[in-house]
Amino acid sequence: MSTLVLFDSNFGNTRKIAETVAAELGNDATATPLAGLGQGGLEGVDLLVVGSPINAWKPTPRTQEFLDGLGEGSLRGVRAAAFDTRVRLFIHGDAAAKISHALEKAGARIVARPRGFIVEGREGPLAAGEVEGATAWARSIAVAAQGSGPSGTDVTD
Ligand SMILES: Cc1cc2nc3c(=O)[nH]c(=O)nc-3n(C[C@H](O)[C@H](O)[C@H](O)COP(=O)(O)O)c2cc1C
Repeated sequence: MSTLVLFDSNFGNTRKIAETVAAELGNDATATPLAGLGQGGLEGVDLLVVGSPINAWKPTPRTQEFLDGLGEGSLRGVRAAAFDTRVRLFIHGDAAAKISHALEKAGARIVARPRGFIVEGREGPLAAGEVEGATAWARSIAVAAQGSGPSGTDVTD
């Protein structure tokens, strides 16, 4: 299975979660910054995870641009999951759910509930336990992606 974990990150916290998720999803999984995604970068991907910091209640502009560029049906046959990072005690906005809906709209099968990971301030660090939380979340993705049927277990939020 070809696995790609795409992320945007201003201060490194979302990158850290993306790298943790990729490490848990296996040897062929790579964490790639959205800025480094070339043309055709999604070709052959079976499992796609997308993560973004919340910026002003939404995914970052770069993440939104990526999502807006997904053609209808372009992710058909792809299993997917989404996460965000957010500040504790902020009015969050739910970027993870927005990303998840956009991936689903492009035809992906969502295999895990969208997940928010808490940072302690704008620049981080990640709150205690969130790296371990990312490992557990990734494990649930791996199990669901291997689940019954050609597209794995369906999860709706
Ligand atoms: C311009 C800007 C807007 C932000 N808006 C929100 C917000 O609406 N809700 C929230 O929970 N956090 C907000 N944050 C905090 C980010 O979520 C936090 O900086 C991010 O999770 C850190 O991840 P990173 O290190 O990968 O950039 C904002 C941060 C910046 C820089």
